[in-house]
Amino acid sequence: MRVLVSGGAGYIGSHTVLALVAAGHDVIVVDDFSNSKPSVQGRLEALAGRAIPFHGFDLTDADKTERLFAHERIDAVIHFAGFKAVGESVTKPLEYYRNNLDSTFALAASMAKYGVTKLVFSSSATVYGEKAPVPYREDYEHLSSSSPYGQTKVMIERVLSDIAQISEGWKVALLRYFNPVGAHPSGDIGEDPQGIPNNLMPFIAQVAVGRRERLTVFGDDYPTADGTAERDYLHVTDLAAGHVAALEHLDDMVEPARAFNLGTGTGTSVLELLKAFERAVGRELPYEIGPRRAGDLPAFWADPTRANTELGWHATKTIDDMCADTWRWQSRNPEGFPGS
Ligand code: UD1
Repeated sequence: MRVLVSGGAGYIGSHTVLALVAAGHDVIVVDDFSNSKPSVQGRLEALAGRAIPFHGFDLTDADKTERLFAHERIDAVIHFAGFKAVGESVTKPLEYYRNNLDSTFALAASMAKYGVTKLVFSSSATVYGEKAPVPYREDYEHLSSSSPYGQTKVMIERVLSDIAQISEGWKVALLRYFNPVGAHPSGDIGEDPQGIPNNLMPFIAQVAVGRRERLTVFGDDYPTADGTAERDYLHVTDLAAGHVAALEHLDDMVEPARAFNLGTGTGTSVLELLKAFERAVGRELPYEIGPRRAGDLPAFWADPTRANTELGWHATKTIDDMCADTWRWQSRNPEGFPGS
């Protein structure tokens, strides 16, 4: 297939581009580089061993989006592009709703106009909100999210499902990611957050490389084995493989739009992840215990049965793999990708 990857310069998008090429697909990337660097393209082309066309524009520009569809043959779309910082979304709700929804509207309108009916959407476990029973299952009905960022995922899932229901031939996979971490085993691409990392793994990696003094563990009084919060971390290359599996399964999907959890099915605590990272680096890393972070849940993980059985997809990599690969990327690229 010839696959348009929106947000293909980003963390998960870039790993998925490589997985698509390895599976024999052609890829076109569209990315405005608002949260990524153009130097990603050269790294991807070197790893893929071939040219990967990049279009540098913002999908909320509906005219440009339509022109892309008018000029390129596109068989399917994987839609990653979007703002994703939870805390920032609380202070800039309008920007988040406008950007994430408008880009999806422009894409879906162009797909409809040009007869593109296959779509894989980058959703998140955040759609399960605060009350869903753990492990999270896709048939949970009361989707909601406490942040505007998360709510854009809930809304876009609904928009795409409604379109798929009434549009001849449409197939949409809604992939609900748990906590993606790790990097390509080459160490040449990985997560490159701008500013202070919000998420745990990139923060630990920056402590290890000396960019941050110490990790603050947000709370050690949760009702978990060691008192720190538990999450379902999965390797970004497993996640990328999940996108290829979903794409290739679209024609066989039992409903026009279907959600799939992509996670391992096990929880790992903050301190367990820190200890695993210390094993990868070969030394202890400084940390302190701080207060809980507002809005954090004690523990959640996926029930990945649906992706296992219907997509034939399984997470394969261990927490130690995730830490070793993150460390390879971070130690070789202490300041992330080159360029500003
Ligand atoms: C966060 C988002 C979630 C988003 C996901 C994707 C919040 C509340 N949730 O999930 O909506 O889909 O990222 O990237 O932001 N931690 C520390 N110290 C740190 C950073 C994190 O102890 O410096 C802890 C957190 O309290 C949490 C765990 O590490 O218990 C994982 O945090 P994080 O990586 O931010 O992921 P989530 O909060 O699960």
